[in-house]
Amino acid sequence: MSNDEPTNSSASDDAPVIPLRTRTPAQARVVAIASGKGGVGKTNLAANFALALGQLGVRVLAVDADLGLANLDIVLGLAPPHTAVDLLRGDLDIEDVLVRSTHDVWLLPGCAGDVEASNLEELRRYELMTAIDTLDERFDAVVIDTGSGLGPSTLGFCGAAEEVMLVITPEPTALSDGLGMLRALHERHDVRQVKVVANLVGSQDEGEAAFSRFRGLCSRRSSVRLEYMGALPFDPHVGRAVMRGQPVSEAYPNSPYGQAVTRIAGRFMASTQRDARPGTSQIFWRRLLRQREHGAG
Ligand SMILES: Nc1ncnc2c1ncn2[C@@H]1O[C@H](COP(=O)(O)OP(=O)(O)OP(=O)(O)O)[C@@H](O)[C@H]1O
Ligand SMILES: [Mg+2]
Repeated sequence: MSNDEPTNSSASDDAPVIPLRTRTPAQARVVAIASGKGGVGKTNLAANFALALGQLGVRVLAVDADLGLANLDIVLGLAPPHTAVDLLRGDLDIEDVLVRSTHDVWLLPGCAGDVEASNLEELRRYELMTAIDTLDERFDAVVIDTGSGLGPSTLGFCGAAEEVMLVITPEPTALSDGLGMLRALHERHDVRQVKVVANLVGSQDEGEAAFSRFRGLCSRRSSVRLEYMGALPFDPHVGRAVMRGQPVSEAYPNSPYGQAVTRIAGRFMASTQRDARPGTSQIFWRRLLRQREHGAG
């Protein structure tokens, strides 16, 4: 199959598919969506953030790196015929596994219920990253949804990404687990800068207050710099959209969540703060290899 023509369109075809070679190659921004505590809204943010970037004209690859318990496809309202596991088995090329969402947003799906995939060994992770590497001129942003907890796969993907967006909620447990993730990322992968989104808030003020508490907690126990990206309200449209098999930003674009995620995407695009780790490359797999050469991770 030609590299030029994206295939596997499985959702609406409203965005023009521009032949890849006519585009100016750009270094993709790579952002991992992470949290300490599970169930704080990472996957919904990853999906709707990717779509909000797509709406801004950004060519996005969404990667479901919660490989064994993948559900980014469901939140995006897609039913991919293949997953990254088929790729790792060597049965398919990455082009055959990608599925298109709306705009120029594409998904590399994970696999639900695959124990082996959920504990992906380091070498297999590299294989996956190397496969994604072949797409580097095709995308402007790579948004990675990760699993919860401090497992090696989640830390590995976050550590390899140039930017990490940490999801917290006002709950003390989410703040404390968020700090745990921050410290693990710093210790294991020398992460020095993290973007923060407060989810499930009652108001923007509550989001800012949660971020303030989190910053206070972190300032005593971590040297990682935090950049606040904004808050996402608790919004029943989120669950309703998932039940309808559609992402909330498409099913209810004017919902409080839909509007908030658009603002966050705008802030992300405007943000120039990047992690200034030595040897930083914007392409995460190369950066990871460099970290290994320097003995980190
Ligand atoms: N802002 C919100 N308002 C209302 N419900 C939300 C919001 N964000 C997430 N949810 C709901 O919270 C639940 C968990 O969301 P999600 O799956 O995105 O979390 P997660 O962090 O990816 O979970 P996991 O750690 O299991 O991967 C879902 O039922 C989702 O619909
Ligand atoms: Mg998830």
